Amino acid sequence: MRGILLAGGSGTRLKPITTAVNKQLLPIYDKPLVYHPLTTLMLAGIREILLISSPSALPQFERLLGDGSQWGLQISYAAQEAPRGIPQAFLIGEAFIAGKPCCLALGDNVFYGAGLTQELQTAAALATGATVFAHQVTDPSAFGVVELDGSGRPVSIAEKPAEPRSNWAVTGLYFYDGDVCGIARDLQPSHRGELEISAVNEAYLKRGDLKVVRLQRGTSWLDTGTVQGLMEASELVRAVEHTQGLKIACPEEVAWRSGYITQDRLLALAEEYGNSYGAYLKQLGSTKW
Ligand code: DAU
Repeated sequence: MRGILLAGGSGTRLKPITTAVNKQLLPIYDKPLVYHPLTTLMLAGIREILLISSPSALPQFERLLGDGSQWGLQISYAAQEAPRGIPQAFLIGEAFIAGKPCCLALGDNVFYGAGLTQELQTAAALATGATVFAHQVTDPSAFGVVELDGSGRPVSIAEKPAEPRSNWAVTGLYFYDGDVCGIARDLQPSHRGELEISAVNEAYLKRGDLKVVRLQRGTSWLDTGTVQGLMEASELVRAVEHTQGLKIACPEEVAWRSGYITQDRLLALAEEYGNSYGAYLKQLGSTKW
């Protein structure tokens, strides 16, 4: 399966932090935010990735991530001239998707928790329909909201509803079959003037083809689109890394543990850093797990 990482947007809620810097390049404790959705895709087993961002930010992403070969990935890049909505990713990425199932990861979503890798790999095996992940939140009106019946099947979906029908927010990680580009082409802008990802999910819901995986309370999900969300994500990463001595969203480590790169390659990457990040990679590569 191929993956699209959508890392554009105007970062309006984070200005002035995002006036000169793309949101997804901001730090979450010790790493750039974009490492989170990137490693989420990697954990799902996705190694061919198209990163979409604004023309001004693309050179910076290319400088950070290169062609991905250092981590056993193939990363390519495409520009979104102006942020006209999340489903635009499927219009820009249509040739890359080539009519096959694909995954879309929003650049500002942070996931962390036990059992997540298994859930991701199950979703990535999808051949037909769509799979989305839902997480319980106190204020659902800031998100796509899915209403579920007693068996956990989706009944309705709405984007940022004034009166949410449930507390289940749809997270920014979506798995779709090869029909998604056709569905995106038929969308009309919403009253916000954007193409809405909830409209794509609603199209799958109407065909009876939308699966909603409810993330359990042991899994953390943070949308870092606000200053508070950014801070909370940094606090989470700092607390876990400090307690366990293991890093969250470290592409070198995920690549090595997933068998995308060899131990020698990991040690060579460690040498390039010459700081505590490199020392972490070095001890990983020299320890038997
Ligand atoms: O985080 C999950 C939520 O993400 C979902 O619950 C909502 O259904 C979905 O619409 C989205 O809501 P947000 O208000 O958080 O979307 P935002 O505009 O912040 O964009 C999410 C990411 O996608 C962000 O990293 C910027 C990027 N983006 C967004 C748009 C609209 C683009 O790169 N291009 C775009 O045109």
